[in-house]
Amino acid sequence: MTRSGTTVILSPSEVGRAAEILRCGGLVVFPTETVYGLGANAFDATACAGIFAAKQRPADNPLIVHLAGVSQLPLVARQAVPLARVLLQRFAPGPFTIILPRSQAIPDIVTAGLDGVALRIPSNQVARALLAHCEFPVAAPSANRSGRPSPTDFEAAFAHMNGRVDAIVRGPDCEIGLESTIVRLNGSYVEVLREGAVTREMLSEALQGRATLLEAHQGTAVAPDQPPPAPGTRYRHYQPHARLLAVEAAEAATALQQHRDAGTAFLVLRRGEPYGLPLTDTAVFTFDSVEHYARELYRCLRACDQRGCTTIIAELPPNDGVGRALRDRLLRAAG
Ligand code: TXA
Ligand code: MG
Repeated sequence: MTRSGTTVILSPSEVGRAAEILRCGGLVVFPTETVYGLGANAFDATACAGIFAAKQRPADNPLIVHLAGVSQLPLVARQAVPLARVLLQRFAPGPFTIILPRSQAIPDIVTAGLDGVALRIPSNQVARALLAHCEFPVAAPSANRSGRPSPTDFEAAFAHMNGRVDAIVRGPDCEIGLESTIVRLNGSYVEVLREGAVTREMLSEALQGRATLLEAHQGTAVAPDQPPPAPGTRYRHYQPHARLLAVEAAEAATALQQHRDAGTAFLVLRRGEPYGLPLTDTAVFTFDSVEHYARELYRCLRACDQRGCTTIIAELPPNDGVGRALRDRLLRAAG
């Protein structure tokens, strides 16, 4: 938690200063390719406690630890089995998080006492530059207040965290817009704990039959031996103030015709003329692709709240590729 309540805004060229703040036990918000993160030195339990305070996050929801590269793995993990190395080789740096047995240097508060630590090597240039300046790993959840949509641009990160952190690095808008894919290895199974831009199709291809990919249902893996769900999946997530109705494409046209009042916003995939709605209507958000929809989702939810919308009708994308992650977030946002 910031001592003075003052938050410094830093430019990407000032990541050296941001690293120094982290080194001294401070909190720094920084951009990544997925969402903005709220970072602290992962070896500093007191600094990490500040993350939970700033986010008002329950203490039993563990943090993802960010690394500059695979060379830092021995600092944070006791071992990385060959399967982990295959996946890291293919998907790091990028929107991919893997849970490995933690080293003793990782304090309990980071993993909420669990033996596994979640590790991610981001690809965003600003994040990489910041992490390269740190000789320690950086614990960072999404930089939102607990339960709210993650920030995917500087303005949203500032709105959530100004006055609660020591610094915010003003970076570009996040390219992906949804949180990273999280996997956990369990013998010859790979459990997808959270869907993201590293899709099941990509994971299957990388595994090439070396391991079995387990079904993830709203973040809860369904393994033959019933492993516990990812800790954070118990909590409300990604919710805007407005009521969100997630509808299948086939029902979108009907839902849109039924809710044509001023307080309603529509999120739809563009297919020719979307359901006969005038595109000049400010409460209609259309997306050219599923990736575009994913990138803009949280920004749209925030825009709807700022406009005072009472209802958001959001079309569910097809259940494949990045569409799976987007459906997951929409269904959670719908509560
Ligand atoms: O894209 C991302 O992953 C972003 C950026 C900032 O890297 N981070 C992010 O962190 O989304 P957060 O804290 O908002 O979500 C992390 C999720 C939570 O649901 C948490 O419960 C789960 O990861 N998690 C973290 N550590 C874990 C562990 N050791 N075992 C199982 N689940 C874990
Ligand atoms: Mg989060």
